[in-house]
Amino acid sequence: MATGIAVTLTPTFSSFTRPTRFFPATAKFPLRLQASSSTAFIDTTNQTDSVAVTRSSNPLACPICYNSLIWITDPGLSVDTIPRSSLQCSTCQKTYNGNQTHLDLTVTSGAKSYGESMPASTELFRMPLISFLYERGWRQTFSVWGGFPGPEKEFELMKSFLKPVLGGNIIDASCGSGLFSRLFAKSGLFSSVVALDYSENMLRQCYEFIQQENNFPKENFNLVRADIARLPFVSSSVDAVHAGAALHCWPSPSAAVAEISRVLRPGGVFVATTYILDGPFTPVPFLSTLRQNIRQVSGSYIFLSERELEALCKACGLVGFKCIRNGLFVMISATKPK
Ligand SMILES: C[S@@+](CC[C@H](N)C(=O)[O-])C[C@H]1O[C@@H](n2cnc3c(N)ncnc32)[C@H](O)[C@@H]1O
Repeated sequence: MATGIAVTLTPTFSSFTRPTRFFPATAKFPLRLQASSSTAFIDTTNQTDSVAVTRSSNPLACPICYNSLIWITDPGLSVDTIPRSSLQCSTCQKTYNGNQTHLDLTVTSGAKSYGESMPASTELFRMPLISFLYERGWRQTFSVWGGFPGPEKEFELMKSFLKPVLGGNIIDASCGSGLFSRLFAKSGLFSSVVALDYSENMLRQCYEFIQQENNFPKENFNLVRADIARLPFVSSSVDAVHAGAALHCWPSPSAAVAEISRVLRPGGVFVATTYILDGPFTPVPFLSTLRQNIRQVSGSYIFLSERELEALCKACGLVGFKCIRNGLFVMISATKPK
């Protein structure tokens, strides 16, 4: 429902240290964020980084059975122990091993003679060149043409949505090269962070960025390869799922959000950013044709409307839909009912 009242937010960045690369610290965007009837007013000015939840049990599950994975090697979620990690499904007995940079928890993990390809919007990010360029210019273009406020402001804004689950565990779903996963870890606001992506090369790049950083908190940080539509977590085991700039890349947003809803515990929070196109543009006759064409060519669900995003969350059992907007940028949030 785009019955917009416009509010101007001026987030402060006092508690923010600048851990990412290639993003200028200066706030370049006017951040005129539009609020609608279901839109939250986010006051980040007096934010206390209070820690409300503490949870550290292992939520990892078999992507086939959704039952707990049991550690074969010494248990531990840490960047440094990934290469030695070995877990087994308590039900189907399948074993999942860590490689140099991440734990592969896709269904086809370990199948040497079988592989599947995804739509272009997923496959694109598996290319080594794209993974390399992602934080070296690619992501910045979202701000130029898409109204994305930039990682620092996005982090500040999402923290307000995540307030009820601070101190819990968080999955950075479709993390790319770990832009936000690294911020989550360094903020100390969560008991554990899983950086999850389908792209091996994005995960590799994330691992390299972490290795280049001094004093990165590697404990309780894990890199996991998984399909968003088959999340390797036990049901109701996760406090927060963040998905930055990814919903429009997923082959089926409904399959993805349903999975996110499954893994969230009651009261758990989903927060995501994507591109939105509605309001004054809705009557444009060719808009739905344009969307259909983009979908057919790339598999991308780019430019959903606010109404569609709200319906998507509701259809997947999430409540309390809120969003904040800036041009084509939207940050949405919804909660698993208690
Ligand atoms: C535009 S990037 C977003 C990266 C980062 N979250 C950000 O905010 O910049 C989209 C990411 O979605 C991931 N992705 C696409 N399809 C996926 C799928 N089926 N399962 C998991 N991740 C997927 C891509 O690999 C890519 O890293």
